[in-house]
Amino acid sequence: MVRLTHLLALAGATTSVSAECTREGLLAAASSYVAAIAAGSTLGLKLSATNFTYMENNKKADIARGVLSQPLKIDLNRSTADTTACASYTMLISSGGTKPYVLATQIRHPADGDTSTISLIDTIAATTGSLFFNAKKTLDLISKENWSPLAAEQRPSRELLKKFGDAYLDMWTDKTAADSISWGTDCERVEGSQLTRPCGASLPRGGSAKNNGMRRYVIDETLGSVDVLCSFDSLGNLPDSHEIRVEGGKVKYVHTVTV
Ligand SMILES: *[C@@H]1O[C@H](CO)[C@@H](O)[C@H](O)[C@H]1NC(C)=O
Ligand SMILES: *[C@@H]1O[C@H](CO)[C@@H](O)[C@H](O)[C@H]1NC(C)=O
Repeated sequence: MVRLTHLLALAGATTSVSAECTREGLLAAASSYVAAIAAGSTLGLKLSATNFTYMENNKKADIARGVLSQPLKIDLNRSTADTTACASYTMLISSGGTKPYVLATQIRHPADGDTSTISLIDTIAATTGSLFFNAKKTLDLISKENWSPLAAEQRPSRELLKKFGDAYLDMWTDKTAADSISWGTDCERVEGSQLTRPCGASLPRGGSAKNNGMRRYVIDETLGSVDVLCSFDSLGNLPDSHEIRVEGGKVKYVHTVTV
């Protein structure tokens, strides 16, 4: 028995040193997802044969029946990479067609860092009827933003990004959360298709008893981005994505996708 355990441990150790979670690998997997959305097919996705989960709007779902079941013309896609969590985040807008979409998708890979294998695709899929939904307006606003990599001295730490992401989602339950965030003076907030500028104006200060739950993070220091997928329970169990860009320690952009 002891020997068998040792053997299994050894086998595990041998397989886990073979891969490394790189930015290039994460972005390549994210781009395979963008291509799959454009094709309306999962064929080009390297889904894990042993441990793959598809989530759409906070529920386990059949990948062949959700947004990937039809080709979508893509107007805009943008991805971030989290080499620590071995995950990526992609925002995707398809504004034409009978069913327009704004997608907020996190992709996760096995713990050994093998980005050529996908273990989770986790999508918040907003479409007609979702909160402030107007894909053309969202496209117009988002395409004007500058998401180029930050110079080293402008980059926030992982800790700061996590802290701002959490504080943002805590504003509905904690009246002190809004003031714990440094707001840039020219910061822009795009909620669905609704623009607020500066974004630090008119913030919630507590009032709800229900904390926003099910938080999943993708943090990219190079682009200054934190994306949190969650269940927006403060306002009633809504599948939600909040992405924040921080430049030089201050919030520059906020995007929300809420179903
Ligand atoms: C995704 O965005 C990249 C960078 O803007 C672009 O080069 C690429 O063509 C886009 N992919 C699709 C399928 O539209
Ligand atoms: C399966 O993948 C998930 C991520 O989707 C991970 O959290 C979990 O640990 C994996 N399980 C096994 C047995 O590898």
